[in-house]
Amino acid sequence: MVMQAAVITRYGSPESIEIRDVPKPAPAPGEVLVRVHAASVNRTDCGELWPRVLGRLVFGLLRPRRKIFGMDFAGVVEAAGPGVIGLKPGDRVFGMASFRANGAQAEYVCVAETGPIAVMPANLAFEQAVVCEGAYYANSGLTQFDIGPGQKILVYGASGAIGSSAVQLAKARGAEVTAVVATRHMDLARSLGADHVVDYIAQDFSRIPERFDVVFESVGKAGYLRCRRLLKPGGRFMATDIGPWGHYLPLIAWSAITGNGKVSVPLPARGSGHVFTAFLRERMAAGQFRALIDRRYPLSRIAEAYRYVETGQKAGIVVINVAPAPPQIGI
Ligand SMILES: NC(=O)c1ccc[n+]([C@@H]2O[C@H](COP(=O)([O-])OP(=O)(O)OC[C@H]3O[C@@H](n4cnc5c(N)ncnc54)[C@H](OP(=O)(O)O)[C@@H]3O)[C@@H](O)[C@H]2O)c1
Repeated sequence: MVMQAAVITRYGSPESIEIRDVPKPAPAPGEVLVRVHAASVNRTDCGELWPRVLGRLVFGLLRPRRKIFGMDFAGVVEAAGPGVIGLKPGDRVFGMASFRANGAQAEYVCVAETGPIAVMPANLAFEQAVVCEGAYYANSGLTQFDIGPGQKILVYGASGAIGSSAVQLAKARGAEVTAVVATRHMDLARSLGADHVVDYIAQDFSRIPERFDVVFESVGKAGYLRCRRLLKPGGRFMATDIGPWGHYLPLIAWSAITGNGKVSVPLPARGSGHVFTAFLRERMAAGQFRALIDRRYPLSRIAEAYRYVETGQKAGIVVINVAPAPPQIGI
């Protein structure tokens, strides 16, 4: 049995991606086989396509260890391996594939039942459920700083996958949210629930009079010195990237050495994916979190999706529609 997949056998540009037939995987004990309907291309996938030195230690020194990339998936459970008790064939599920095995940019993917997978909220289209990656990194920061009512947070880069997730999840936690975006994304930021929106094209965002408990720099471009003046005494700066010229790195190290926790890149706790997908399912079902879809591509044109994501200009997510939704599901 074979399936179609986006196959990557060498590091480089999106031109190295081939759409071809590969063996269809079979679920191991504790795994389910998911027929993928929607996947995505995100910044992590692009980083895996052309990793820096540290990334190569994780993904493979000379060439990618796995041949099929892709974290986010949404689809239907086709088969359950021995020992699976919580999921069954026919369940509509979403989540993230492990980077230690082949990913979701294919017609089928195997996922551990105890991993980042959950049943989709009813009436959600598959493409609306490939949202985990950005939300996962956003949520780890908000959780680490226990963002909640009475707190003011500024999200820099609120139109990106992580930033747009941070706005929605911080609002759901009851915080007062200020979003910093380009002019073209101001309405979008308001639609996500931001209380205040600052246009970084029209003004210097770092000169606004408000002060914040947390500044969440979600695109790695703002610079710490500019953000520092926006912090209340005791306020925290968190980032998702190493920042311009990597200058967040020494600051993170200094924060860790002194224990002041002022600057950090909060990473999700190991093994937290299963609880996280269940949490996100509840937020989506409650109408507190929605997908922000920028573009859609079929699997056959996935190289174009990679090229677009590499520009750093996408808003929210870029969807890969792998298979059409089954006709019996009314959306
Ligand atoms: N910590 C981790 O493990 C982890 C995981 C995934 C990603 N990351 C990193 O986190 C960062 C964000 O990832 P993402 O997927 O959320 O990015 P993304 O979706 O690609 O972000 C793109 C958005 O950023 C906006 N943007 C671009 N330049 C900007 C600027 N100078 N100021 C403000 N906004 C700007 C763009 O809109 P405009 O150009 O119109 O403003 C666009 O909407 C990336 O650097 C990525 O490598 C880290």
